[in-house]
Amino acid sequence: MSSTIFAFPGSEKLARGVSEALGIALGTLALHRFPDGESLVRIETPVAGQRTALVCTLRDPDTRILPLLFAARQLRDAGAASVGLVAPYLAYMRQDQRFHAGEALTSVEFANLISTRFDWLVTVDPHLHRFARLEELYRIPATALHCGEVLAGYVAGLERPLLVGPDSESEQWVGAVARQIGAPHVVLAKVRHGDRDVRIAIPDMAPYRDRAPVLVDDIISSGHTMLTALRGWPAGGPRPLCLGIHAVFAADAYEELLAARPCGIVTTNSIPHPSNAIDLTGLIAAELRHRLG
Ligand code: R5P
Repeated sequence: MSSTIFAFPGSEKLARGVSEALGIALGTLALHRFPDGESLVRIETPVAGQRTALVCTLRDPDTRILPLLFAARQLRDAGAASVGLVAPYLAYMRQDQRFHAGEALTSVEFANLISTRFDWLVTVDPHLHRFARLEELYRIPATALHCGEVLAGYVAGLERPLLVGPDSESEQWVGAVARQIGAPHVVLAKVRHGDRDVRIAIPDMAPYRDRAPVLVDDIISSGHTMLTALRGWPAGGPRPLCLGIHAVFAADAYEELLAARPCGIVTTNSIPHPSNAIDLTGLIAAELRHRLG
């Protein structure tokens, strides 16, 4: 059975890389936005009897989700044998409980929507916190790839790194990378009071003065987690490098972060961004080989 990969706008480069790595055809999907804001989706490549995958990173999910569901429906209507979703960045994972009365449980409802339209889901390091596994949310086979080894490969190339997690949730990424390369790690204590109101307690860093700090987080969104850590970083030692898996960078977060004088800002290409320096093509292609190859 043959396979075809389709790219949503914003995911073309990664989709092309994966299709080349696997020798699988890249189909043509055209999107048009009408003046009233509605979307037209057109699948221009025949898919009858084929396994298909849509690659769509889910930054700005509200603008993408409807066209994505339309595209999945059209692939099925055109006779595709299966329709999978590759979302290198999976949105709507952080509202994993009702933090205040009356709030919608969006992680669950978003997963419901995706599960009704796709046969499987592949993503990279989704924000799993109160739900431990994707299967607790998604009713389809859902694979969370972990880029720890890829990150470790990058960090191992740095001189005497000290891995720093900005909050307890980051322990999973930071601890794994630190163990792989035999470097020390420290996890800070963060309390969030609002979207852009974050407090972080930084312990005494004097024992690590000779180390190059690398702040590692899964998502850089408003940037205020990284920003607060950078602003409170003790003077006298090297400035931290900010390493984020998912380069969401809302509004002017990137520029604000640069102004706080990090040693650098580095992200993976799960979301295209000028800070991308860590390539996930191989990681994703290896998983898709099983599903499409
Ligand atoms: C927290 O739950 C996440 O792991 C990240 O720390 C958070 O999403 C970063 O968001 P922001 O850049 O808005 O501080």
